[in-house]
Amino acid sequence: MSRTVYVNGEYVPEEEAKISVFDRGFLFADGVYEVTSVLGGKLIDFAGHAARLARSLGELEMDSPVTDDQLLEIHRELVARNGVEDGLVYLQITRGAADRDFAYPKDAEPSIVLFTQSKPGLADSPAAKTGIKVISIEDLRWGRRDIKTVQLLYPSMGKMAAKKAGADDAWMVQDGQVTEGTSNNAYIVKDGVIVTRQLSHDILHGITRAAVLRFAAEAQMKVEERPFTIDEVKAADEAFITSASSFVMPVVEIDKQLIGNGKPGPVATRLREIYLEESRKAAV
Ligand code: PDD
Repeated sequence: MSRTVYVNGEYVPEEEAKISVFDRGFLFADGVYEVTSVLGGKLIDFAGHAARLARSLGELEMDSPVTDDQLLEIHRELVARNGVEDGLVYLQITRGAADRDFAYPKDAEPSIVLFTQSKPGLADSPAAKTGIKVISIEDLRWGRRDIKTVQLLYPSMGKMAAKKAGADDAWMVQDGQVTEGTSNNAYIVKDGVIVTRQLSHDILHGITRAAVLRFAAEAQMKVEERPFTIDEVKAADEAFITSASSFVMPVVEIDKQLIGNGKPGPVATRLREIYLEESRKAAV
């Protein structure tokens, strides 16, 4: 079935959506994006995604073609037109079309594209009950991972390396310490303490991460924001990831070695419950 997508001010059937071959998103990966989840037809953490989008655009000296209010309206309209109950809204803004030149063009109009992905039962994923398996790989991405750009080839290669190794995802390692997953933030739990890398240019400042750490503090759980090694992951009681598409997802194996007893742990399980419950209540 054909979806309705949003392209530069218009709602059109996906087959009719067009972007220029000169678009700098296509030629230079000169663009940023956001992925917002939808549960029960409502948007999870929209304000957080809009704020991070503004920051990404600002870091790249790019103008937004829409206000936050217009952005919310477009998200809601697409969810309604496509009848999305559970799923995702993908948003991308690029610097726009201009004759190819490494320097930012002065007169390009930014391009904006949004589409939905319907994922029935997104919050009841069977993987949440069994946990996922990860491998470790070197983090070979650029040094500004805090900007949510569309240059996703290395994460894509990491995901394929994981699949070839019979795993679900890859955790990336820099100077012997985990940065994050290919498209999610990474955590371990040891002796009741949740450990996750601190915010910096090295990782994406996850919107789900911020919410989960807030809920963990409210539930009196101990959190340490610091880097950790693969040896620490192997010795951990449990591990998990967070993202808009996976919420809180237990990780039960790394590089073919079981983490804890190889089953989703109580901390990840509890945080997933709290996150889903609170996020549904605050959804817009
Ligand atoms: N990815 N780290 C990376 C590298 C990511 O790509 C993502 C999100 C996250 C988690 O951020 P958030 O909690 O705001 O979703 C961390 C999205 C889901 C994607 O690329 O599909």
